[in-house]
Amino acid sequence: MIIAIDGPAASGKSTVARALATELGLPFLDTGAMYRAVTLVVLRRGIDPADGPACGGVADEIELDFDAGSRITIDGEPGEPAIRSQEVTAHVSAVAAHSSVRATIVPHQRAIAAGGGAVAEGRDTTTVVFPSADFKFFLVATPRTRAERRAREEGRLEAADEYEKDLEHRDALDSSRADSPLREAEDARRIETDAMRPDEVVARMLAIVRGGGEPPQPPAPAVEERAFDVRVERGLTYRFLMFWVHLGYTWIWRMRAYDTGHVPSGGVLIVSNHQSYLDIPLIAEALRKRHVGFVARASLAKSRVLGFIMRHCGSVLIDRGRGDHRALRETVAHLRQGDAMTIFPEGTRTRDGSIGKFQGGALLAARRARVPIVPCAIRGSFTAWPPGRKLPRAGRLELAFGAPIDPRAKDALEQCRAVIEERLAQLEAGTVGSLVGE
Ligand code: DC
Repeated sequence: MIIAIDGPAASGKSTVARALATELGLPFLDTGAMYRAVTLVVLRRGIDPADGPACGGVADEIELDFDAGSRITIDGEPGEPAIRSQEVTAHVSAVAAHSSVRATIVPHQRAIAAGGGAVAEGRDTTTVVFPSADFKFFLVATPRTRAERRAREEGRLEAADEYEKDLEHRDALDSSRADSPLREAEDARRIETDAMRPDEVVARMLAIVRGGGEPPQPPAPAVEERAFDVRVERGLTYRFLMFWVHLGYTWIWRMRAYDTGHVPSGGVLIVSNHQSYLDIPLIAEALRKRHVGFVARASLAKSRVLGFIMRHCGSVLIDRGRGDHRALRETVAHLRQGDAMTIFPEGTRTRDGSIGKFQGGALLAARRARVPIVPCAIRGSFTAWPPGRKLPRAGRLELAFGAPIDPRAKDALEQCRAVIEERLAQLEAGTVGSLVGE
């Protein structure tokens, strides 16, 4: 179950959300803490909070997680109390306003909640992050009430006026920014908290959740979010194509797949050598019980047919000329939500049948999404359809998977290559392990 709690700064969201999460036995997801953590690192590195690309780079690079007590960790280190400092508070609105930052943080938040549900708190949780949450609440209170609450919490009653000004300023910034502004979702339940204690707010929410009130209708996701809505099912196009692939790969190429049992369920990055256009359907067919996505060259999608197929089958298109952050983030989002994604670290098909140089960037997505890497060796597709040949010819296609590799290993890329070479040699010699399908 996902419960999203939204509202302006200091409306009591986190106190209430934490208590509600405890009552319901759900993890508590403090989304604001993630923007605070990015801001903390931005400031520590002396980066200008107004510099969108640089802030986005920080969000991409650091590892954010939550410990068992739902407290944020940054690269494994506790983020509290540093993320609550005055300096971070003063700059977090600016950092959180960058689309480059949100494009990394939002899919991460969804992935965290996808595991075991969550009570998520933060502005935009009801509108953008979890538009189809089971329950949505919007907490409101006047700036004066909120300022007084904050002043009491911090034992500085004399500072209430100053806090009020500060809150009004933050509300204005958060409501007027271009990307995911503070907005009350139409289907959220509004709770006016001016005259309520936190436990009364929690009791009201519990009554709604336990009473099973009508789940809200999800509004359409914001346009800029659609690009990162990477949910991919085995849609009609995919299943139609896989029907023909199954026939072709059974009868024309007498395919053999070995050790598919090495591919775990859930998010996994399959890393394979690349011999021909036949490789992509070959891997999809070997794992045909699940959906397999591919990281492919954007230039391939210039062909109308290929472009249509790739867009409808969940491929991530990568612009090889540039460091493509967007493609990386999309791949990570796929992996985090449990998809199998395939990447060819040589970047292109072999020209002579040998295995080319592996590019290290290929493994970044697995590292960031913390999913295992499974190496895969393909044999036969170079002979069947080498680059330069117009049409493929019949023959035998084989592929063999290797045991999963930990993406954090320093030599993960070398390990992948070694396993692929070893498995290829076994395929050549006919000494490979357990056969799964022919
Ligand atoms: O709720 P908070 O004070 O911890 O949030 C810190 C900042 O992060 C605040 O300026 C709003 C921003 N934020 C956001 O943009 N989106 C969220 N989901 C949560 C917080």
